[in-house]
Amino acid sequence: DKGGHKHFMAKEIAEQPGVLGQALQHYLGTDSEIHLPGAGLDFAGIERITMVACGTAFYACLTAKYWFEQIARIPVEVDVASEYRYREPPITKGTLAIFVSQSGETADTLAALRYCAGKAEKIASVVNVPESSIARESDVALPIYAGVEVGVASTKAFTCQLTVLFMLVLKAARDRGVLDAGTLDSHVQALRGLPSIINQALEQNAAMRDTAYKLSTARDVLFLGRGQMYPLALEGALKLKEISYIHAEAYASGELKHGPIALVDEEVPVIVMAPRDALFDKTVSNMQEVMARKGKVILISDARGLSEASQGVWSSIEMPEIPDALAPILYALPAQLLAYHTAVAKGTDVDQPRNLAKSVTVE
Ligand code: M6R
Repeated sequence: DKGGHKHFMAKEIAEQPGVLGQALQHYLGTDSEIHLPGAGLDFAGIERITMVACGTAFYACLTAKYWFEQIARIPVEVDVASEYRYREPPITKGTLAIFVSQSGETADTLAALRYCAGKAEKIASVVNVPESSIARESDVALPIYAGVEVGVASTKAFTCQLTVLFMLVLKAARDRGVLDAGTLDSHVQALRGLPSIINQALEQNAAMRDTAYKLSTARDVLFLGRGQMYPLALEGALKLKEISYIHAEAYASGELKHGPIALVDEEVPVIVMAPRDALFDKTVSNMQEVMARKGKVILISDARGLSEASQGVWSSIEMPEIPDALAPILYALPAQLLAYHTAVAKGTDVDQPRNLAKSVTVE
């Protein structure tokens, strides 16, 4: 049942404020502390984290790496499961291995988990399907409460994965004694405000549709982001490729001048994801290099960012203000909606894109 929407993907995008609220409710108590289900996890003895996943779930891991390192001060390594499983990586005691998977059945992710079993200190998983193989074979399974996701392009599962991972980071930081109660409380308040901010982003739907129409004739599109927005650029490019079949690449904006800028000409839209955070000026200077080569910039930022930097851009999309750490969750929305409307404009099969399966259970 598409609940009145034209596609499951549209329905699942629209469901995000509600399902994120569910996820928050399961992990946040009446106090400000984070409560993990079951026996939970104690990060006191954890020295490093290895995160493994595929596709969009891999980008959730990449985002979480920034959070774990900055907020909980734990070193994190992230890898795609198909590489990790054959690399025979040495696993030291004190390693927490985290596997992220919507379906909980992705063959490579499951194989990577089995490789770590008996070697890592603890195996945790972040899953949407609690009775899945990955959940069952973990020491601790952390559900994301996204509800059934039908569209092949993952949307609500991604934002729920990010939200649960962010709460896990807060728990880790508390266990390790590197997050004071006041700062924890401000993160928790920010999380509680997330569903309504996501709702505000959904109100920008028409602006995203208009920009998507402009995008739909492009042959190649670049996405740029810096810091924790880099994985979001990757996610935006994957969404666009998957459902609109437009060739899209993402780069960390600082990498631009190490090669990809050679691709930029007046035909290439360049989507810049840049909330007005500490790295904003750096990203904007990369964006100006694109504009100097006549690239068509689509700047996605907040009111402050747009007022400072939108002069001369091809198109801009305004996101609500959000506390810096949570920006990746919010900026998933334009990544999803731009891809969605571009695919609709092109008339592709949004929910069942060619050559793709919802769950990749063979390698
Ligand atoms: O079920 P999983 O989260 O393990 O699936 C991983 C990927 O196959 C999945 O995220 C895929 O990349 C999506 N189609 C992305 O939209």
